[in-house]
Amino acid sequence: MNLIDGKLLARNLRAEIADGVAALKSEKGVTPCLAVILVGDNPASVSYVTGKEKACAEAGMRSLETRLPAETTEEELVGIVRRLNDDPSVHGILVQLPLPKHISDKSVIDAIAPEKDVDGFTPVNVGRMMIGERCFLPCTPHGIIKLIEFSGMDLNGRHAVVIGRSNIVGKPVAALLARKETNATVTLCHTGTPDVAKFTREADVVIVAAGHPGTLTGDMIRPGAVVIDVGVNRIPDPSRPSGFRLAGDADFDSCAKVAGAITPVPGGVGPMTITMLLWNTLEAARRAAS
Ligand code: GUN
Repeated sequence: MNLIDGKLLARNLRAEIADGVAALKSEKGVTPCLAVILVGDNPASVSYVTGKEKACAEAGMRSLETRLPAETTEEELVGIVRRLNDDPSVHGILVQLPLPKHISDKSVIDAIAPEKDVDGFTPVNVGRMMIGERCFLPCTPHGIIKLIEFSGMDLNGRHAVVIGRSNIVGKPVAALLARKETNATVTLCHTGTPDVAKFTREADVVIVAAGHPGTLTGDMIRPGAVVIDVGVNRIPDPSRPSGFRLAGDADFDSCAKVAGAITPVPGGVGPMTITMLLWNTLEAARRAAS
C-alpha cells in the first residue's frame, strides 16, 4: 500500500505558484490578494482561515482578513462582499462556510463577482465547469484529481465511485472525473443508495466525502483500489493536548490493508484544497492584470 502524500504534492505545487507570484510582481507590478471573510468563531473555520492566510504569505501573496461577529446580518455581509468586488487590489474573495444559521449561504455566494470567485462556488462558475468553459475549478475537487494523478493512476476508462453528493465536493468531483479529458466512468453514491458496497467493490478509485467516520471500510473495496478520503472528523481523545484527533471518513487501518494507495487524514486532501485556492487566486490576479 502506498500513502498518497498530499503535503509533498502541495509543497511542489506551492513552489510553482510562488514562482508565478514573483513573476507577476516583477512583470506587472501586481501582488495577488485573497480576501478572506470569517463570520463567528467556529473553531474548525478559524483553523482553516488561519491556514489559508499562512499559505498566502508563504506564496508571496497578500491576504486581507475580515473577521465578523456571529450576529452580523446578511445585508451587512453582502455589503462587504460587494465592496470587495469593487476593490481592484483584491483578486479573490473567500467567504468561509458554514455561515451562521440566520444568513443564507446562497445569498452571500451569489453576491461574489464570478471573476473573483476563487472557491468556484458561484452558479456562474459551476455552470461554466459543467459545460467545459474557462472557470475557477472548485478547490477540493481539483485537488482530488491532482492527488489521483500523483498516485500514478491514469483515470482514463477507470471506474470512480464517489460517496457523498455535497455541492462543495461530491457533485463537482463527479463532474470533473467524467470530463472528456479525465474520462473516468463515474458512480455517485449518497444517502439514498441502498448498498454502497456493491458499487465500491467494483471501483478502481473511491472518493469518500460523506462527512461520517467509518463510511468506507476495507471489506468494501477491491484489492489495489485507490482511496481518497475527504473527511475531516474531530474524534474526542483525552490523551491529546487539543482533546481531539482527526479522522477521515474511511476506516484507515482496514482500508490500508486492501488499498493500492490511500490518502492520510490529516496530510492528504486538506493541503491540496488550500493549494488549489492559491492556484485560483494567482490565476484571478493574472487575468485582472492582462
Ligand atoms: N468550508 C469548508 N470547505 C470550504 C471551502 O473550500 N471554501 C469555503 N469558503 N468554505 C469551506
